Amino acid sequence: MSPDLIPLLPTHAALLAGLHHICFAEPWNEAAMAGLLAMPGSYGFLAASAGQPRGFILCRIAADEAEVLTLLVLPPERRAGLAKALLKAAAEQAAADGAGRFLLEVAADNNAALALYRDQGFAPVGRRKNYYGGRLDALILERRLQEERSVLPE
Ligand SMILES: CC(C)(COP(=O)(O)OP(=O)(O)OC[C@H]1O[C@@H](n2cnc3c(N)ncnc32)[C@H](O)[C@@H]1OP(=O)(O)O)[C@@H](O)C(=O)NCCC(=O)NCCS
Repeated sequence: MSPDLIPLLPTHAALLAGLHHICFAEPWNEAAMAGLLAMPGSYGFLAASAGQPRGFILCRIAADEAEVLTLLVLPPERRAGLAKALLKAAAEQAAADGAGRFLLEVAADNNAALALYRDQGFAPVGRRKNYYGGRLDALILERRLQEERSVLPE
């Protein structure tokens, strides 16, 4: 069954923090999520099926750039195309809102995420040395959004 992709709302902060806690060693708490959801240009989607959350993507758009702030899929739901669907929805929204570039940061040792982003057309454009915990590099990846723009109705 394909999941529902539900636009994120400020009221999702506690839910998102709970999901983040499951998927990241240094999770963002409810206050942090609420702050991110309240930022101008913040948007994203919750993937749910059978009324249960399965994952989400949180992004921000500013001028002609969109950025993935975080993306996760719960462990039992992985390798079923959910992250791909979330990224697609987020990229289409960014393109519709006028962004020409989609950017993100990913830990240099996150092989699953790197494989996903490569598969989804992202390419490295930079590296932040010792960005995570003072020891692990972050790679900056970019995807151009012209394709999404060109398929949108005038
Ligand atoms: C990274 C993550 C979001 C991927 O979610 P997912 O729903 O399993 O990804 P998808 O099923 O959409 O994968 C799409 C493609 O990405 C690649 N991919 C995804 N996970 C992979 C893995 N563990 N190993 C190798 N390739 C992988 C594959 O090319 C895959 O296509 P395929 O299954 O047909 O081979 C998920 O593993 C996760 O939540 N990890 C923990 C949080 C995290 O690291 N988030 C990213 C922070 S930048």
